[in-house]
Amino acid sequence: MRVEAGAVLLELDDLKTHFKTERGLVRAVDGVTLKLRRGESLGVVGESGSGKTVLSRSIMGLLPSTAVRHGSVRFAGQEIQGMSSKQMRHLWGAEMSMVFQNPLNSLNPLMKIGKQIVEPLKLHLGMDKDNARATAVQLLRDVRIPEAERRLNQYPHELSGGMRQRVMIAIALACGPTLLFADEPTTALDVTVQAQILDLINEQRRDRDMSVILVTHDLGVVAGHTDQIAVMYGGKLVEYAPTKILFADMKMPYTKSLMRSIPKMADPSHSRLATIPGRPPDLVNPPKGCNFAPRCAYAQDRCHVEEPPLTEAKDAGHVFACWYPVGSPEFERKDAELQEQGIMPADSAAVS
Ligand SMILES: Nc1ncnc2c1ncn2[C@@H]1O[C@H](COP(=O)(O)OP(=O)(O)OP(=O)(O)O)[C@@H](O)[C@H]1O
Ligand code: SF4
Ligand SMILES: [Mg+2]
Repeated sequence: MRVEAGAVLLELDDLKTHFKTERGLVRAVDGVTLKLRRGESLGVVGESGSGKTVLSRSIMGLLPSTAVRHGSVRFAGQEIQGMSSKQMRHLWGAEMSMVFQNPLNSLNPLMKIGKQIVEPLKLHLGMDKDNARATAVQLLRDVRIPEAERRLNQYPHELSGGMRQRVMIAIALACGPTLLFADEPTTALDVTVQAQILDLINEQRRDRDMSVILVTHDLGVVAGHTDQIAVMYGGKLVEYAPTKILFADMKMPYTKSLMRSIPKMADPSHSRLATIPGRPPDLVNPPKGCNFAPRCAYAQDRCHVEEPPLTEAKDAGHVFACWYPVGSPEFERKDAELQEQGIMPADSAAVS
């Protein structure tokens, strides 16, 4: 089931993932369609609760029994939506794997680093002890851990946060996956280490022709590290584009709001992230029309009644779901009004 570099590796078609709860059905992922080629990286961004983690877990088939999935997930040309955990097991590790946000919760604190890397190599790839140990040393070197051999005999608490995250990446890479999910892999780390980890993931992607799905709430994090960006809001894909195109020509007022919440280098270190006023939508009873309408400064009557469909922008591969996108006469008129009233900063219409 190997896919050549550049060929489509993952294809989602109207993927939905709902959870049965006492309050009703939670529409955590509500119709996501996208394609990812082998070797490409996709950034999934959106506020907390927008469905980023559920989307990744849904693709991997790591969901609780309360989850109901609809739509299609094709991996290497094979439909995997609807496969049981038993059927998915041969894909985990060997074809797709995940790096989680907090390595302390994911690494076994009582087991030496070496054993945690060697075990999956023996189990999934059938390596003998010596071979697995040599591979583990090489993996630690690949993720730039100094004195790799000595590290094998250390426990997770003996390593720094950045080193532990590198170990997690080594474990995720161990069986040579073609698709790596990295779910907020740097939020627990300081800014310099964050950049090193993101560079490391990118470097491994190139070396291995691997695809990467990088999940984050920070549009700034994905800017320099992804080929494409999927913006999620209330479980839906609301804008999707090659990264350069998105930054040059973002269409959704929501994407622009996320952009404005990125701290600038010039900001004083104590300045807080700008947040988008209002609450994310209730996923059991989503608002009528556009999900973002109750919080959108540009909403007009139609937005509260009719849901905007995904529409193609002028550049290939760029889609968005908005009745009055950035650059439309309605948007520009409203933006001028908001700027006059001092509600919107003057740069709001031209994000570069
Ligand atoms: N097992 C579950 N049962 C019911 N609802 C769930 C379950 N798992 C997630 N949800 C809901 O699905 C929605 C999407 O959650 P998800 O964890 O994907 O958000 P996220 O975008 O990853 O947010 P964050 O940035 O905080 O990690 C949330 O409203 C969450 O409460
Ligand atoms: S459709 Fe309307 S409410 Fe939704 S983002 Fe566009 S302008 Fe705002
Ligand atoms: Mg999450």
